[in-house]
Amino acid sequence: MKRDERWEGVYSFEDSPFIMEILTELRDEKTGPIAFRKGLVKLGRYMAYEITKTMDVEKVPIKTPLEETEGIIVKDRRNVVIITVLRAAIPLMEGLIKVLDHARVGIVSASRGKAPKFEIEMKYVKVPQIRSEDTVIIADPMIATGSTLIKVLEEVKKYGKAKRYVIIGVLAAPEGISRIKEAHPDVEMFVAAIDRELNEKGYILPGLGDAGDRAFGAP
Ligand code: URA
Repeated sequence: MKRDERWEGVYSFEDSPFIMEILTELRDEKTGPIAFRKGLVKLGRYMAYEITKTMDVEKVPIKTPLEETEGIIVKDRRNVVIITVLRAAIPLMEGLIKVLDHARVGIVSASRGKAPKFEIEMKYVKVPQIRSEDTVIIADPMIATGSTLIKVLEEVKKYGKAKRYVIIGVLAAPEGISRIKEAHPDVEMFVAAIDRELNEKGYILPGLGDAGDRAFGAP
């Protein structure tokens, strides 16, 4: 995991060969929906594991069958809310929850309108009450213009103030990261890689195409 110098609290996994190998398969246009979904699940699992390294831990006394000793628990892992942004985040969330298995899960539908406005419509919002000890993880594979996530964060913040707000994505465009950090400076971002730019239709370049279409085989 490496911090990107351009922003505070933004990390990518470009230094992790295994995560990059999964990303390579996701980028490849020849990868079909089954392998694409499996790749998103795998990424979710490994990224969640990496993020536990940034969580608070607590020492606990334990007894082995032979003697008393001390172990640890990742305390923050017990207080996680995962917000799944429909629809491409479904397989990513499936991977995240394998590691963050105590998580309460919220579901948000947010779809992006057409260029040039890209207005966001939120039709379904189901978010659990958020507590001060919670780490809120918003899963959205593609951080393009950032408009969806700015709206989702605004909505989620109505449910209580969390200890941390963390976005987990596969790819991000620099434009989207800057817009999100401007609107929500308190948010941390963890993405597999940060790509070059957005095209005029709001797609990330070089990117991987439309993550929802590729995961579910339907536009
Ligand atoms: N959403 C996607 O699925 N892909 C992009 O490149 C941008 C937004």
